[in-house]
Amino acid sequence: MNKTLAITGLAVETAEGKEILRGVNLVVKPGEKHVIMGPNGGGKSTLAMVLLGHPGYKVTAGKIKLGNTDITRLPANERAKLGLFLGFQYPVEVPGVNFASFLRLAVNAKGQGNISPLALRKELAETAKKLAMGADMTTRALNEGFSGGEKKKSEILQMLILKPAIVILDEPDSGLDVDALRYIAENIAGLGKDTGMVLVTHYQRILQHLRPDFVHVLIKGKIVESGGAELAEAIEKKGYEKFQK
Ligand SMILES: Nc1ncnc2c1ncn2[C@@H]1O[C@H](COP(=O)(O)OP(=O)(O)OP(=O)(O)O)[C@@H](O)[C@H]1O
Ligand SMILES: [Mg+2]
Repeated sequence: MNKTLAITGLAVETAEGKEILRGVNLVVKPGEKHVIMGPNGGGKSTLAMVLLGHPGYKVTAGKIKLGNTDITRLPANERAKLGLFLGFQYPVEVPGVNFASFLRLAVNAKGQGNISPLALRKELAETAKKLAMGADMTTRALNEGFSGGEKKKSEILQMLILKPAIVILDEPDSGLDVDALRYIAENIAGLGKDTGMVLVTHYQRILQHLRPDFVHVLIKGKIVESGGAELAEAIEKKGYEKFQK
């Protein structure tokens, strides 16, 4: 899949009418790595949720396009089928739903032919190994009882199996030990030239493994500055004060 994500003038409020995003513009082409940084509460997770179609938020202006399709009003499952993937800041546990069965449904729902249980198990085992994940992980219920870091790896594992056109990763590096961070970063970096990426992070560390093409600063619902990797370095040293007028 090879699709551009185009966000234009996106304004969003909560169901109660609280304004959170105030005109976000962002274009992510295949193979591009975009990083979003910004102070707590600026709207990064809200942007991620809205891109995937979380029903708790209202788009009041602007639009989101994936390839040639306007997805602004599409439900989350339709967006996923079109090739959008979201790795959550706080992944949810899905008790009773087996990891492999869930992923097989998700892969088959993409409509590009069905994958056999055996083929999927093989791919899962190989991919889990790349992430240094315990072998039993994928035979358990999805994220149930997983540690914080294991949940983060689980999200990356799902991403690698689903091979989406656009991945949105909300703080994939939070709560990881140094080795886990390296495994995750290397696997994200290896996504390849067909996949566009939006990665939310607070830290410079993951960016040392994963050279971003663009870094954006999101404050109070707006992108106030965009640049290259040097912008992340400046933020690490000096914080957000200079952007907060
Ligand atoms: N459903 C909601 N109801 C009320 N306020 C909300 C809701 N969702 C988000 N907000 C508010 O919107 C703002 C942006 O939240 P968001 O989670 O997007 O921030 P963030 O940039 O991801 O922050 P962090 O870096 O801490 O993860 C916050 O002030 C938050 O309290
Ligand atoms: Mg957040």
